[in-house]
Amino acid sequence: MLAGAVADGIAPTGKRRQAEPNAQLPQVRGDRIQLQQVLLNLITNAIDSMVAKDGARILGVRSEVRDGANVIVSVADTGTGIGSQELERIFNPLFTTKSGGMGMGLSICRSIIEAHDGRLWVAPNKPEGAVFQFMMLADGAPSAIASQREQLDELAPSSRL
Ligand SMILES: Nc1ncnc2c1ncn2[C@@H]1O[C@H](COP(=O)(O)OP(=O)(O)O)[C@@H](O)[C@H]1O
Ligand SMILES: [Mg+2]
Repeated sequence: MLAGAVADGIAPTGKRRQAEPNAQLPQVRGDRIQLQQVLLNLITNAIDSMVAKDGARILGVRSEVRDGANVIVSVADTGTGIGSQELERIFNPLFTTKSGGMGMGLSICRSIIEAHDGRLWVAPNKPEGAVFQFMMLADGAPSAIASQREQLDELAPSSRL
């Protein structure tokens, strides 16, 4: 899905793209169309940001597994980056710095990921640009809530209903 989204989302305009789909990755359960929408929004923003500036234009999309239970997808660019003042505001509905922007993309992305019990955040890229990452629980991995419940059960087995 990652490679497809990168291929679909980008016309060959001379930018370098790096898709690193990970074949060993566990599956993630979710709404395929919504998750594609998240990726395309992030990729479109990355391209907008790189078009706004001269210099290297490298888009990196990769996926990895963390702690055996979480899948992390990253969309990294070498664009303008995001000032510290704007870091949290960019996720607000209607926040945009683009003349024709709607400012809804990131807000929708975050809602979709959170509806999948995941998290979406942004960090600076090195040496320039931004990296958006989202994390979702791998299919079959116990959720944090379930494992907390198990721990409570272990502490007080007699109180189990
Ligand atoms: N990859 C990025 N690099 C730099 N700024 C970004 C990036 N992605 C989003 N932003 C900032 O966040 C704002 C909100 O993004 P978004 O919600 O997708 O709305 P829109 O793309 O319509 O402006 C953008 O206007 C831009 O200022
Ligand atoms: Mg956008």
